[in-house]
Amino acid sequence: MSEFSSLGLSDWLVKQCVQLGISKPTAVQQNCVPPILQGRDVLGCAKTGSGKTAAFVLPVLQKLSEDPFGIYCLVLTPTRELAYQIAEQFRVLGKPLGLKDCIIVGGMDMVAQALELSAQPHVVVATPGRLADHIRSSSTFSLSRVQFLILDEADRLLEQGCTDFTADLEVILGALPSKRQTLLFSATLTDTLHQLKNIALNKPFFWESQSETRTVEELDQRYILTPEKVKDAYLVHLIQTFTDQHHDWSIIIFTNTCKSCQVLTMMLREFNFPTISLHSMMKQKQRFANLAKFKASVYRILIATDVAARGLDIPTVQVVINHNTPGLPKIYIHRVGRTARAGRNGVSITLVTQYDIHLVHSIEEQTQTKLKEFSVDEKEVHKILTQVNVKRRECEIKLEATDFDEKKEINKRKQLILEGKDPDLEAKRKAELEKIRSQKKKFKEKIQEKMDKQKKAQIKKSIRKRKDKQKKAKAAAAAP
Ligand SMILES: Nc1ncnc2c1ncn2[C@@H]1O[C@H](COP(=O)(O)OP(=O)(O)OP(=O)(O)O)[C@@H](O)[C@H]1O
Ligand SMILES: [Mg+2]
Repeated sequence: MSEFSSLGLSDWLVKQCVQLGISKPTAVQQNCVPPILQGRDVLGCAKTGSGKTAAFVLPVLQKLSEDPFGIYCLVLTPTRELAYQIAEQFRVLGKPLGLKDCIIVGGMDMVAQALELSAQPHVVVATPGRLADHIRSSSTFSLSRVQFLILDEADRLLEQGCTDFTADLEVILGALPSKRQTLLFSATLTDTLHQLKNIALNKPFFWESQSETRTVEELDQRYILTPEKVKDAYLVHLIQTFTDQHHDWSIIIFTNTCKSCQVLTMMLREFNFPTISLHSMMKQKQRFANLAKFKASVYRILIATDVAARGLDIPTVQVVINHNTPGLPKIYIHRVGRTARAGRNGVSITLVTQYDIHLVHSIEEQTQTKLKEFSVDEKEVHKILTQVNVKRRECEIKLEATDFDEKKEINKRKQLILEGKDPDLEAKRKAELEKIRSQKKKFKEKIQEKMDKQKKAQIKKSIRKRKDKQKKAKAAAAAP
């Protein structure tokens, strides 16, 4: 019998694990499964790719099999793609139970989701925004009997980043029973521990993997110092080298904006690299389709924003390239964690400009790892520099000719509507604020101008006075 059974899991679940090729529990599973089975709240902090998902899926399935009803378990996660991935783990491991799951994420048909929710699935996996919308607008389902609340990537759900989940979380927590088990997992929990303890109120058991570093040992972490305008040439050179040498490697390139994601995808395609993108300005169906093609290795290169930085588990990914140095060490940890998962090897390369060196220092301090320089034949990079920059410029011009920026504007309007604001009114308010600001600025400038004039006049006056005095003194001296 495998060691999974010694954790208190039933034979049927152990068999499911073996069928998936999982025979020995990882440290986070070994340490978190027993307290979950004992009914405790658990906060689990373990490195990327260490099997946190199974650490909560397995005990929940075990408990569910003892008393199955819906809705039994609610899992919240920050991204839509991650919600699908978690639901799949539940489905595969819970197959012998005839598990019914339901995925509630934005960008998909809300009516179909409402119907699924009313059919009382055992497990609901959701992103907070869409689930909160359902709670606000519908009474066809109830979360009042939920036994398990799970927050995967819990720290992201609680932080107030560019997508702020806190208001939606409040709505969801209000619909849940206070007597429940709460499980919180992430590779970077520690700095949000205080807030997390407000959600897992039931004397939570906290487990953190003991390690000197916060990234996995199997990951070879590198950097390349480059001027901004040579970055893309390095990128093309790196991809050319990797694809020439390793036909079966998949690469994820992270960049900071949707537009940059789009331009880089277009540019790499010009060089005939099999590239596909993932960012939040794409239609949801396209996002899923692209990710599926990348997972199936139809495309070997994925260019993504941080929407793909957390949780995604794609075993073929051998290389992660940071086209921009992440501003926060936490983001770096999750991004590079898309490779070197479950004991596999992997490489990460961060492109660093002279303005980002301090960011690398704080990454090194937080991860307790020194990044090594990745050596590149610079002559080769300089050979392609002009060609790459010309191609990039061409792609930028092409993109400007499309409605990409317009779409961004439309998305902003949609977001405001979702927040219950009137976009036209908001625009008016913004314009008025701008007007007031500019009036204030002009007023200040006028005052300054007047003060300057006065000062000048005063100086002139005092110079004149002094000269007059001197003249008088001279005249007095010359008088007989
Ligand atoms: N006990 C195990 N033995 C071997 N492989 C495992 C085991 N448990 C899980 N795995 C595999 O490890 C991979 C990573 O697991 P998972 O996605 O749960 O990691 P994670 O800790 O959630 O990482 P992240 O912080 O990036 O979300 C998955 O492919 C999973 O099937
Ligand atoms: Mg995970």
